[in-house]
Amino acid sequence: MRAAAQAQPNFALIKYWGKKDLDSNLPAVGSLSITLDSLWTRMTVEYSDDFGEDRLQVNGRSDQPMLPRIVRCLDLVAGKGRSPAMVRSQSNFPIGAGLASSASAFAALVVAAEAAAGGSRGTLPLARLAGRASGSAARSLFGGFAELTVTDEVIEVEQLLARHDWPLQVIVALTAETAKPLGSGDGMIRSAATSPFYSSWVGQQEQDLTTAHAAVMTRDFDKLAAVAEHNCLKMHSVMWTSRPPIVYWNRSTLSCMETVRDLQNDGHAVFFTIDAGPQLKAVCLPDAATAVAAALAETPGVIRVMQSGLGPGARLLETQ
Ligand code: DP6
Repeated sequence: MRAAAQAQPNFALIKYWGKKDLDSNLPAVGSLSITLDSLWTRMTVEYSDDFGEDRLQVNGRSDQPMLPRIVRCLDLVAGKGRSPAMVRSQSNFPIGAGLASSASAFAALVVAAEAAAGGSRGTLPLARLAGRASGSAARSLFGGFAELTVTDEVIEVEQLLARHDWPLQVIVALTAETAKPLGSGDGMIRSAATSPFYSSWVGQQEQDLTTAHAAVMTRDFDKLAAVAEHNCLKMHSVMWTSRPPIVYWNRSTLSCMETVRDLQNDGHAVFFTIDAGPQLKAVCLPDAATAVAAALAETPGVIRVMQSGLGPGARLLETQ
C-alpha cells in the first residue's frame, strides 16, 4: 500500500514554546497560526515486508538522523505491527532553518501514513498524532487560521477562518539557509529549566490567545499585528534569557525588523514574526505585499524573499 500527501508549513502568530509533558509532547501553551500556500512538503509512504527495515529519503537522499522521529510517528499512525516503510519526503524550501519544515513534514506524513495503512481517521485525530511528533505540525492539518488549545491530556485544534475569509499575504525574508544550531524541542526544555521569564510567558499566553482570536474573527489587522509582535518578542525574550542563551537571530534579522518598522511608519499594514531561526516573516494585507517584498529584498543580508498567500490543510494526493 502506498500513499502520497502534501502539507504546507504554518507560522504561529501566537507561539508555542514549552512542553507540558515530554512523553506525549503536549504543549505547555496554546498557539494560533496561519498555514501557507506556496511552500510545501510532499510525503510518500509505502509499506512492504520486502523493505526489511524502515527507510527515509529527504529530497532524494537517505536521512538517518531524522529516521527515529519518522519511525515513532509511523508506529503511532499504523501500529508497531506494521510492515517496514519506505518514506520519501520532498520540500521546495530550506529544511530545519526556522521555516516550519517539521510542521509540514509531519502533517503530510500522518496523512500519507494513514492512507497507506488503509485507515480513515479524521483530521483532528491525525492532527493529534502529528502533534506528538512535532507540536506545530498539528496546526498544518488545518488551512487558513488555526488555533490549538491544550487541555490536561490532549490538544484541540480548530480552524478559525478559512484561507479565503481573510487572505493575508506572507513575505519570508531568508537571511540564512543553514540548519538552526539548536532544535526547538531541546530549546523549549532548556528555556523551561533556566529562563526566569518562562513561567510568566506561560501565564500570559491565554490572554494573548484571547486577543488574537478576537482579532482574527473580526479581521482586525492592527489588533492582530500588535499582539503577534508582542507575543513573538516575549518568546524570544524567554529564549535569550535561557542558559546558555538561545539566540536564533542574526544581524539581518534585526535589519529586517527595522524595515518592517519603516514600512509601518509609512502606513503599510504589515507586522513581523520570527520563529526558531533567523528568518523574518512579514504578514501583511494584500495591498501592502509589493512594497513589503521590495523593501525586505533590499534589506542588508537578505538572501531572497519568498511570498505566499494562505493555504489549505494537509491533504492526500494519491493512493495506490
Ligand atoms: C518557535 O513544533 O518544532 O516555531 O514539538 O519539539 O517538534 P516540537 O517543536 P516545534 O516548535 C515550534 C516552535 C516555534 C513556534 C510555533 O511554531 O508555535
